[in-house]
Amino acid sequence: MTSAKKLFIKTYGCQMNVYDSERMAEALGGQGYVATDRPDEADMILLNTCHIREKAAEKVYSELGRLKGLKAANPDLKIGVAGCVAQAEGQEIMRRQPLVDLVVGPQSYHRLPELEARTRAGETALDTDFPEEDKFDRLAGRPKAKRGPSAFLTVQEGCDKFCAFCVVPYTRGAEASRPAARVLAEARDLVERGVVEITLLGQNVNAYHGEGPDGRDWGLARLIRELAEIEGLKRIRFTTSHPNDMEDDLIAAHGDCDKLMPYLHLPVQSGSDRILKAMNRKHTAESYLRLVERIRAARPDVLLSGDFIVGFPGETEADFEDTMALVRAVGYGQAYSFKYSPRPGTPAAERGQVDEAAKDDRLQRLQALLNAQQQAEQAAMVGRTVGVLFEKAGRMAGQLAGKSDHLHAVHVAAEGEWLGRIAPVRIVESAPNSLHGELAA
Ligand code: SAH
Ligand code: SF4
Ligand code: F3S
Repeated sequence: MTSAKKLFIKTYGCQMNVYDSERMAEALGGQGYVATDRPDEADMILLNTCHIREKAAEKVYSELGRLKGLKAANPDLKIGVAGCVAQAEGQEIMRRQPLVDLVVGPQSYHRLPELEARTRAGETALDTDFPEEDKFDRLAGRPKAKRGPSAFLTVQEGCDKFCAFCVVPYTRGAEASRPAARVLAEARDLVERGVVEITLLGQNVNAYHGEGPDGRDWGLARLIRELAEIEGLKRIRFTTSHPNDMEDDLIAAHGDCDKLMPYLHLPVQSGSDRILKAMNRKHTAESYLRLVERIRAARPDVLLSGDFIVGFPGETEADFEDTMALVRAVGYGQAYSFKYSPRPGTPAAERGQVDEAAKDDRLQRLQALLNAQQQAEQAAMVGRTVGVLFEKAGRMAGQLAGKSDHLHAVHVAAEGEWLGRIAPVRIVESAPNSLHGELAA
């Protein structure tokens, strides 16, 4: 047998890419690759890319440019582009950057072993099909080795919603849900490997409707309740949700399923009904606020998180003020906000654009408000005792870093024996992006 080849993967974009990168590394493991965190010693470099905003896509090309030196130093180095830029741009990537050997889309990476073999034979390889077969059926079984205490698990992929700004329906394809039995089996395996927290992933995870082991349609709430039966699994989360898919039983689960954590990412994008309509969101600001009320009635201390876009085509100052008003009405513990970025092939890219200075100004105002809300929410945690899952060593010696029930990063003076375990922690201080606490166990 030849000595192990080394694989370096760099992951951009959303958590689904993080999960896919793990699975791609496993798929290439069968070809004799082991992971490295040093690109300069790699035999293959894979960039798992994101196409959601222009800047995200451009980053990939600048990164590829930087890899030129490595390829010159090691002519056997193979360079691959995976993920959503691969899907959106395909062959164009090799045209723009001839050092790329391989391009593989998010729905065809189970074919990586064959594609890799082609590059070893001196060819280039491209696969951006949306194949009939399910890649998860074709991928080899997952390893059994011990791993960190929290894991992502993709249960749903793709999107049929076609928001006017978004590339995801084009890069990830149509909505599809994995059968519940597969998800449950994968979750049990993860728990055997030391995982205590699982975050269920989907581009629209709450649109999950998979086939249950009983042959019936299972929604996300049913899946969560069954997962909660797995002994050893302590925490369940899910992301990202669409407001229109928050079904009654999923709202109820936030109140009665102890393992489901009090955190919900529920993007709204805008607080203006006119803009929501132009975005093709199919909900109003009012219907979103009513939904938030129902979720809070089920779980009063749920931490809400959101995504916002400012400067969508046609957005006026008054529309933007509606977004500010919605944010004030909801009170977010955490949020992501972006300037609208026109994406080729999406309907909104063809419309009249808001000028850049107005976008900048609105983003600053929105972020100031969201940040103030985040700080207030964090300050309100001081004095409370919350569960913290310890995941890694902290920044300072003698410290561990973990995640609270509400997904706050928490730093605590604690011994390494706590790693992988959940302990009650009394929060004593709030820093800009994290909390400090003391073990209350
Ligand atoms: N499936 C999720 C979001 C996926 S994309 C949902 O429906 O909520 C993540 C976030 O990126 C979106 O919520 C949106 O706020 C932002 N986004 C998507 N396309 C964008 C674009 N063209 N310009 C700016 N932000 C965008
Ligand atoms: Fe994109 Fe809208 Fe689908 Fe979310 S729901 S992935 S924003 S098209
Ligand atoms: Fe980006 Fe694709 Fe995720 S475009 S956000 S990596 S689904």
